[in-house]
Amino acid sequence: MEFFEEKRREVMTHIEKFMLDKMYDFLKPVDTIWQPSDFLPDSSRDTFFDEIKELQDSARELPYDLIAVLIGDTITEEALPTYESWLTMVDNVSKDEEGGWMKWTRHWTSEENRHGDLLNKYLYLSGRVNMRMMEISTQYLIADGLDIGTGPDPYRNFIYTSFQELATNISHRRVASHAKKEGDTLLSKMCGVIASDEARHAKAYKYFIEQVFAVDPNGAMLAFEDMMRKKIVMPAHFLREVGLKVGQTFGHFTDAAQRLGIYTAIDYIDILKELIADWQIESIADLSEAGEKARDYLMKLPERLLRVADRMKNPMLEYKFTWING
Ligand SMILES: [Fe+2]
Ligand SMILES: [Fe+2]
Repeated sequence: MEFFEEKRREVMTHIEKFMLDKMYDFLKPVDTIWQPSDFLPDSSRDTFFDEIKELQDSARELPYDLIAVLIGDTITEEALPTYESWLTMVDNVSKDEEGGWMKWTRHWTSEENRHGDLLNKYLYLSGRVNMRMMEISTQYLIADGLDIGTGPDPYRNFIYTSFQELATNISHRRVASHAKKEGDTLLSKMCGVIASDEARHAKAYKYFIEQVFAVDPNGAMLAFEDMMRKKIVMPAHFLREVGLKVGQTFGHFTDAAQRLGIYTAIDYIDILKELIADWQIESIADLSEAGEKARDYLMKLPERLLRVADRMKNPMLEYKFTWING
């Protein structure tokens, strides 16, 4: 245990330097990056009400499932306080405000915060949403917190975020293309810019883990294996609506996402494959026996998951969310 802790601390000291040096390769300057107001009707303009009318006209025809997915995505983005506190609870990293870990965490949070802001305002203006019910779910998700199986381990945290950023990239991107198809160009643009933020974040986390693999191949391999054995659960897993228990809403949310093809079991496998390829899992050298076993498990996992996915049926059950009017 002593050795484990010491090794982690040593590796993380090394990684924190990268986090500081490379921060602006992966994040954009605050003064020039897009802000929610760049996309939303401006309430100080005479055209405000016309713009809202236009927004509502294009939102009116969006399919029920698409609105449900969009609300789930928004609530997930808005539970950001949970993710920031989770990142700051990690062990064996420096909590120095000027150090790589804290600076990265705060700057990443500041970019992410725009996502929930933008989507929430759009949904509020759209006229399609029972805002009170959505807000209750958001408050629940923040109050409940979440256990995503990483513990306070920095490796597991960044393996998780690598996966999760790729997943949110896919889901926002797909919502964007559905919205475009339905003629809501504003929503499509919004989800498009959010998706490209997520893609940048995914690149960063993948890069950090790549650096971990370079100096601690066994530790990284075992952490990756452990996260995949536990399965990566999205924060939305812990969603609930008023009167329901933690997690009871999630199944309906994923059903809607699966029906529309916004995020499916196949996407999960594709993300896993991408991580295996990007981190060059197949050719990592200097592994212990346990490390070799972990690699073996990971290399075979996509095939195994594909066989399971093949047997899954498309969810047909329709569900009425409290979040959606009418
Ligand atoms: Fe986000
Ligand atoms: Fe993200």
